[in-house]
Order: sequence, then structure tokens, then C-alpha cells
Amino acid sequence: MTDQAPAPTLETLFVTRIYRAELDAGEGFNDELAACCMSAAEDDRAGQKWSLKNGYAGYTSYSSIDDLPWRYPAVKLLKSHLDRHVKAYAKLLEWDLGGRKLELDNLWINVLDPGGMHGSHIHPNSVISGTYYVDIPEGASALRFEDPRLALMMAAPPRKPKAARELQPSIAMAPKPGTLLLWESWLRHEVTLNQAETERVSISFNYAWR
Ligand SMILES: [Fe+2]
Repeated sequence: MTDQAPAPTLETLFVTRIYRAELDAGEGFNDELAACCMSAAEDDRAGQKWSLKNGYAGYTSYSSIDDLPWRYPAVKLLKSHLDRHVKAYAKLLEWDLGGRKLELDNLWINVLDPGGMHGSHIHPNSVISGTYYVDIPEGASALRFEDPRLALMMAAPPRKPKAARELQPSIAMAPKPGTLLLWESWLRHEVTLNQAETERVSISFNYAWR
């Protein structure tokens, strides 16, 4: 290479974008949502049974309740915020929706006990998934995202522990009460060990392209 040669360049391609917002939905909003979640956790026998049978440490309404926004005004209000943020996220992803819309497909409560976790998974059949964090005590689980290309890397060397954030093979995001995280549904993620002394309460959801 001579002095006249242009400097080498690096391009960053095939980017994975994760959306984070801190919702300010008014005073008492999170308390009201927490009350809805705890009330469902106490009353929903089918959900309690499902959680026990499927090894969920705590309670989830995932398989038992499909009309939370209709049952609880606070969840209805949450849905209106989600609709707005999902629309903004799709714009940032530069998606061409071709006249179809992004619609809430399902939404469920998670009350994760101390010591609970949720292994790595994706959300098939939807396009945007996310979680809104209601009650996040000190030490509560983070959400860990995994580089979607890991399965293709075969003999690639690992990355340095102090590698740049965008080069790390996985990233844990610690939510706060009021945090909203959105990601593309194919992105693998897990809920790490809940080291809090009380339950970690969140509401998860999927948006479909219709
Ligand atoms: Fe998930």
C-alpha cells in the first residue's frame, strides 16, 4: 500500500435494532397495572395450572386469558401506548408494510418468582414482540438478546470480553419500571435469573402483520 492509497473502510451491515422507551403514562399507572396483574395471578385458576404444568416459576396468563385490554382499563391504555410505539419502531426499521397493518395479536402477564427464569426462545408467527415492565425490584432479571447469526459462525473465534457493545455475542438489558422494549420476533432472547426478593412483573405481547 502506498501513501496515496485510500484508507481501508469498514461497513456495518445487517443491523439488529432494539427499541427502548421509558413510558410516562401518568401517575399511578404502573400501580394500577400491577394491581391488574396481581389480581389475575390470584384469580386465574387455568393460568395457575398451566404455569405449574409448564414449569413457569410464578404465574403467566399466556395460555389462559386473551382479552386483558377488555378486562382492565389500565391494560387498554397500555395498548394505546404500545400501538404508537410499535408504529414508530416499524418506521425506524424502514419496513414496507404494503398497505397492511401491525396489530396486537396477543398480550399476557408474567409474574416471575424470585429464583425464576425463562430460557432462550423466539416468538413465531408475529413480527414485533416486546415487553412492558411494571414492577422491577432491585436485582430483578434482565432480558438477554442473542446474536441471531451465532448458529452460522461455526469455527469463528469468540469475541473479546471487552469487545464493543455491537460486537458482543449477547447483550443483557436491565429494565426499570415503565421501560418498554421492542424487538423483531425472530430475535432469540431469555429472561435471566430473578435475583430479586420479590416478584418481577411484566406484560409481554406480539404484533402481527395483517
Ligand atoms: Fe419472549
